[in-house]
Amino acid sequence: MQLNIKDTDESRQGESMVLEGRKDNNKKLFIESYGCQMNFSDSEIVASILLDNGYNTTSEMEEADLILVNTCAIRHKAEDTVRKRLTEYNALKKKNPQMKVGVLGCMAERLKTKLLEEEKIVDLVAGPDAYRDLPKLLEDVDDGRQAINVILSKEETYADLNPVRLGGNGVTAFVSITRGCDNMCTFCVVPFTRGRERSREPESIISECENLWENGYREVTLLGQNVDSYLWYGGGLKKDFSKATDEQKTNAVDFAELLDRVAMRVPGMRIRFSTSNPQDMHESVLRTMAKHNNICKSIHLPFQSGSTEVLKRMNRQHSREEYIALIDKIKQIIPNIALSHDIIAGFCGETEEEHRETLSLMEYVKYDFGYMFAYSERPGTPAHRKMADDVPEEVKKRRLQEIIDLQQIHSKERMNSYLGQTFEVLIEGNSKKNTNEWYGRTTQNTVMVFPKIQGTKPGDFVMVRADSCTSATLIGEMV
Ligand code: SAH
Ligand code: F3S
Repeated sequence: MQLNIKDTDESRQGESMVLEGRKDNNKKLFIESYGCQMNFSDSEIVASILLDNGYNTTSEMEEADLILVNTCAIRHKAEDTVRKRLTEYNALKKKNPQMKVGVLGCMAERLKTKLLEEEKIVDLVAGPDAYRDLPKLLEDVDDGRQAINVILSKEETYADLNPVRLGGNGVTAFVSITRGCDNMCTFCVVPFTRGRERSREPESIISECENLWENGYREVTLLGQNVDSYLWYGGGLKKDFSKATDEQKTNAVDFAELLDRVAMRVPGMRIRFSTSNPQDMHESVLRTMAKHNNICKSIHLPFQSGSTEVLKRMNRQHSREEYIALIDKIKQIIPNIALSHDIIAGFCGETEEEHRETLSLMEYVKYDFGYMFAYSERPGTPAHRKMADDVPEEVKKRRLQEIIDLQQIHSKERMNSYLGQTFEVLIEGNSKKNTNEWYGRTTQNTVMVFPKIQGTKPGDFVMVRADSCTSATLIGEMV
């Protein structure tokens, strides 16, 4: 499994998740997640809320009293996948009319009443900020009332809830630190589906990490749409920070400070974070990363396009030159850093020359890996309202392929550069292909497999020398 679970990472898409239940719970929940890491993390919050309300999780869809699907709306394809699943749930429901089907997450938020009232393919709709309301919504279904809550919140961060860990490896976990996004990139539906940006109270984040440590976890990924923009000042939206009292402003905690505190308070824990936005990634964060051994040396830094003109149309708050300057600074402060990206091919009005600027930026940085997408117009976004989706489909596809091919070359180059070196690897579990081998990752987030040695187990940190590689995996031996 890779650090980022976007809808291109097939390995976890649609993963259904189960945890140990409670004896006195008599109902069964089947919960499936699509989309980003935040959705997987949110599903853990949902399962925790429903565990307190009579539901244990099951991996058998057929035996469920309630099926919930946590959805993604980022690209057209992501919604198509969920629609197919909804058809399958409804076929099951025909056999078992007691069964309830609910849609959660970004597609629920985007389509609001549509799936419930017009298409009548779900019993319940809950947006990303409405999960505390699920027990009441389930009662509404029982009483024959409309069960929908898509209200976005100024405050909700689910800070006090201790998420139950679903379907994981017991070693790595996600911890969400911000919700929503204030950036308004013109192509993106997230600000509409997840609302305005707010940060979670730092102590609740730290105690969740401490709790994970005590339960054997050895790596956390701090999650947010834009983690570098994290700012805690006592609650409320980030945009209202200007209205904070002087005392709140003096005691405010930014992302560098949060990272520093987590790194010190849970010193054995590896810390990752995602996603970073170029305009908000300040030197203080880089210095904090360099200072702490337990903060992993990898940064996911989407750039979307290598052309300043395209970036302007995307309403990204950085230019090509600023991005390059940031990359230079990162490499100077953290020389062993690994970088990854998100790129969109064929955004509105993208010329061949602008596309080549994306390729040349990739050449400059040489990323370890990346997530690459063809632009998919999303209803209601600024790009949809104001710009023409005018790059023909076959041109988008060809440009995307060129980007993927180039990334493939760079990934191989990066992998080769690691050969002969010895890395500290956190063992996450068995290698998928060979149970005599462990699977783990380096601080750079590179996957490594190596023969097991007696006495080692998941959760251990071991030193492994990289002897050979495939395009995405280092193959080594413990030293
Ligand atoms: N800041 C968020 C971004 C979420 S969307 C994060 O946590 O990663 C993830 C990626 O999907 C974006 O970086 C962008 O590359 C891609 N994306 C978003 N909207 C898109 C669209 N309309 N078409 C194609 N790709 C899109
Ligand atoms: Fe979307 Fe841009 Fe925010 S990609 S999630 S609006 S940073």
